Amino acid sequence: MSKNNDVSVEHHDTLENLNKHVPLRDKLVTAHESIRQQFPFIARIAVTLYDQETRVLKTYLNTGDSMNLENYHQLIDNSPSLKALLDKGLPRVINNLLTFTEDEHDRTKRIARQGYKASYTLPMFNEGDFFGFVFFNSMERDVFTEAVLRQMDLYGHMISLMVINELSAIKTLTAAVKTTSQITHRRDPETGSHLDRMSRYSRLIASSIAKKYNLDDEYIEHVFMFSSLHDIGKIAIPDEVLLKPGRLTEEEIIVMKTHARKGREMIDDLVNNFGLHNIKHIDILQNIAEYHHEAINGTGYPEGRVQDEIPLEARIVAVADVFDALTSTRPYKQAWSNQQAIEVLLELAGEKLDRDCVNALINNMDEVEEIQRVFSENQYG
Ligand code: C2E
Ligand code: SIN
Ligand code: SIN
Ligand code: FE
Ligand code: FE
Repeated sequence: MSKNNDVSVEHHDTLENLNKHVPLRDKLVTAHESIRQQFPFIARIAVTLYDQETRVLKTYLNTGDSMNLENYHQLIDNSPSLKALLDKGLPRVINNLLTFTEDEHDRTKRIARQGYKASYTLPMFNEGDFFGFVFFNSMERDVFTEAVLRQMDLYGHMISLMVINELSAIKTLTAAVKTTSQITHRRDPETGSHLDRMSRYSRLIASSIAKKYNLDDEYIEHVFMFSSLHDIGKIAIPDEVLLKPGRLTEEEIIVMKTHARKGREMIDDLVNNFGLHNIKHIDILQNIAEYHHEAINGTGYPEGRVQDEIPLEARIVAVADVFDALTSTRPYKQAWSNQQAIEVLLELAGEKLDRDCVNALINNMDEVEEIQRVFSENQYG
């Protein structure tokens, strides 16, 4: 009797890194390496995310040579061929990017100029909702044959599931915060459009200082997703203080200031209670909640940190927060005009607020106004 079928063979799992607690980009790199063993011509993988509210597509993750291809966003309506993919739910194969680019968009030309000659693009859906694209770029043309594409589809869907897994943990966290806040404060003054604007201002600032501070797309996207949770600690502040229709007394200010520390503690609790340890870069959220009221000159709270002791994400969100607080109606104040708010920001720059972050916002007023137009005041602002 042969015992051959009892012999076990050593096999190295080429995707073993996917088991680890590492940033999503590292997992994408692992997937890319595994794909390259089979299809060496796949030189780059990129993931873009779609913002349903603003219809904007944003670069999120990439591997391989992406010089000059990072930190990019555009309205999906300005990218007709990608929009067609989304509408039909179909992937797109371009086997000769050079021919394709003749009557195409700038972005495609730029990708072709990097030397990429063919691409395969797969729209990503979660339970039927479109949320972005995966791009596979090749340095050789005519490589995406039907046999290759059948394999690429598997990888494409695996990457899509990896992204869904990450984003849905963040969505759970955001939903948990929202629900808690609705239960404890039926009249939370900072729901809705304030948070929508805040997070887009934060993204705008991060994106415009990205070169100088060497920020990658994943960082920018996390600042965007997490900034709307900056004031989560206000849930713990009593209504008499939070919703007071006038200036706060000294004691009330002391109570109010605890929202930063409390926010950090609540995030730690939520992560533990909902088992969200798999969210990467949770430190960005922790820093935003705890340090968004620190001031460059050390007069902020809760710790009185100075300069770059304050994490960059907190300096970014501070500018977005103050600008939106100034230009919104609060229970204790009327809304200021953009021009008045800009003047205040310029006074605070270098004192309380980070000068680079202030400049990033006020040098992009067209986009600021567009954000204000899309997310105009709701009843509580
Ligand atoms: P918030 O309304 O979201 O304001 C965020 C930050 O924007 C404030 O942080 C402050 O740095 C800035 N800010 C808001 N309004 C003004 C303003 O009229 N002038 C200037 N120069 N800056 C402004 P801050 O001061 O640490 O306050 C934190 C939170 O405390 C505020 O969040 C708000 O919820 C509450 N709060 C602050 N002052 C008062 C007040 O007089 N009355 C009431 N009811 N709440 C207040
Ligand atoms: C990318 O490859 O980075 C995105 C492609 C695109 O926006 O067309
Ligand atoms: C476009 O559809 O106009 C741009 C195509 C691309 O980004 O690949
Ligand atoms: Fe705050
Ligand atoms: Fe705020």
